[in-house]
Amino acid sequence: MKIRGFHYRTIWPSTDTAAVEIIDQTLLPHAFEVRRLSSVSEIAQAIKTMQVRGAPLIGATAAYGVALAMQESGDDDRLQQVGRILIATRPTAVNLRWAVERMTSRLQALPQAQRAEAAWREAAAICDEDVAANKALGEHGLAMLKAMHEKLGRPLNILTHCNAGWLATVDWGTALAPIYAAFDAGIPLHVWVDETRPRNQGASLTAWELGQHGVPHTVIADNAGGHLMQHGQVDVAIVGADRVTSTGDVCNKIGTYLKALAAHDNNVPFYAAVPSPTIDWTISDGRRDIPIEERGEEEVAWMNGRLEDGTLARVNIMPAGSKAANPAFDVTPARLVTGIITERGICGPLELERMFPKNA
Ligand code: MRU
Repeated sequence: MKIRGFHYRTIWPSTDTAAVEIIDQTLLPHAFEVRRLSSVSEIAQAIKTMQVRGAPLIGATAAYGVALAMQESGDDDRLQQVGRILIATRPTAVNLRWAVERMTSRLQALPQAQRAEAAWREAAAICDEDVAANKALGEHGLAMLKAMHEKLGRPLNILTHCNAGWLATVDWGTALAPIYAAFDAGIPLHVWVDETRPRNQGASLTAWELGQHGVPHTVIADNAGGHLMQHGQVDVAIVGADRVTSTGDVCNKIGTYLKALAAHDNNVPFYAAVPSPTIDWTISDGRRDIPIEERGEEEVAWMNGRLEDGTLARVNIMPAGSKAANPAFDVTPARLVTGIITERGICGPLELERMFPKNA
């Protein structure tokens, strides 16, 4: 996508191919800075601290982590060790495990001397495939939004949660891909952006990237969505996902489940936009089997922002001595999901195995 007229992906190899470069998402929307990552430990740290985040981007970054490691040593023990280090950085988004396993199995089949070069090629292929999948699911989502607009005969109000835009992927985004496609096709629309406490990915990242693209949007407190749905001000909710079970349970940023409940109660269609590497074919019960990342108390207790005089600041919002809990994701059961938007088309949550017969 474009920032001030320049096309960016969220990750790319440096011109000397000794490193990768990323946009540091911890600084947005207040500063746009590119960081160079030149070792596995820097890659692991960038994923843990959420300089890069969003399920597809975490997977792509980990793939480049394997490539950087292979430049130092292509031996089998190192390959296994690096895989373990990277998979341990964040437990919920299955794209991370998917990307590391794909890199490992492709590289293990090659002589060690060929692994470094092959790893860079494979990581680049993972990135290109992510862009293609998101573009394709955006086109399927566009058809759905177009039909909805023709039926309603007025501008669409779409609600989204967290950041599932191009910043969360290599390009295009997942939940925002249909929105960008519809906006570019001239369909009048407006996006309700959940702020998404505690880290505010909606207010900081989704609002920023929609603004860069010129898409009309309004940031709302997380608790406002149900009220807006009761008053007919949301036509459809579209979210991304960190992991979807083979049976269509959708694990996404904490608070997604509450939005799905409110959508169900108000007959608002609720969609998850998901490239296929986000589907975990090995599990069928999301609430039981998806590991939910528990993040630090400080993310709840402290907020980052800009003071009136323009300086960046971090402020505490809790009384000393109070504890905070911070589960980072929740699971929306398939029964609350209207449809899953994938690169192959849109299907009901229970139809994923039909849509992807070879993977199931
Ligand atoms: O903790 P984050 O910011 O990595 O969580 C991101 C989300 O929950 C996104 O909605 C999800 O990864 C889908 S992104 C295409």
